[in-house]
Amino acid sequence: MPTTATWLGHAAWLISDGNARVLVDPFLSDAPRSAARADAIDVDFILVTHGHSDHLGDSLAISRRTGAPVVAAFEICQWLLARGCEHTMPMNLGGRLNLPFGTVKMTLAHHSSSLPDGSYGGMPAGFLIKTPEATIYHAGDTALFLDMQLLGAEGIDLAILPIGDCYTMGPDDAIEAVRLLRPRMVAPMHYDTFPPIEQDADAWARRVMQRTDARAVILAPGDTIDLLEG
Ligand code: NI
Ligand code: MN
Repeated sequence: MPTTATWLGHAAWLISDGNARVLVDPFLSDAPRSAARADAIDVDFILVTHGHSDHLGDSLAISRRTGAPVVAAFEICQWLLARGCEHTMPMNLGGRLNLPFGTVKMTLAHHSSSLPDGSYGGMPAGFLIKTPEATIYHAGDTALFLDMQLLGAEGIDLAILPIGDCYTMGPDDAIEAVRLLRPRMVAPMHYDTFPPIEQDADAWARRVMQRTDARAVILAPGDTIDLLEG
């Protein structure tokens, strides 16, 4: 079955192998440009990169409604369990989980991770998601870091990178990230949601294709990439 990645706006992505539906960073009901509804989306797993509200989002409500487990840092899982979340899969940096659709590895991110009430959220993270057909890297919120070279050795089909600047790496550092990650395709996220992170994504895509071997794909919220066709 084809693996697909749908951008739901901001850092929210729905990844599917045609069977399992994996929702990353479901900031939906309070997001200005969300392409999905927290009270209607159907998912099997919820992955949360860090505790900030624009990533944790509607995780608790969606998990409680659907029964989908939340895969996140140990501290985020503890916080959710105390608030009535019934299914969590805690992990930490460098760890890997075997799931029905493939594997999820929790990767480094240089950022911060407090929960909405100020609680410590553990380390911020990204995710390397592997299905039999494709490898997808969702960077979470992060600065540029040289260890992205190590992730590049995993053979990434699609890298999903923040380009908004201010809170994460900006367009220039995101191009350097593409050089380190060497993905087949790259899609930007975490831009244009709020005024401090407005960016010209089309101009960024042109620069990516001039300076790297990756194909940059600019989506509108709701658009889907087919990893096999891309
Ligand atoms: Ni953040
Ligand atoms: Mn963020």
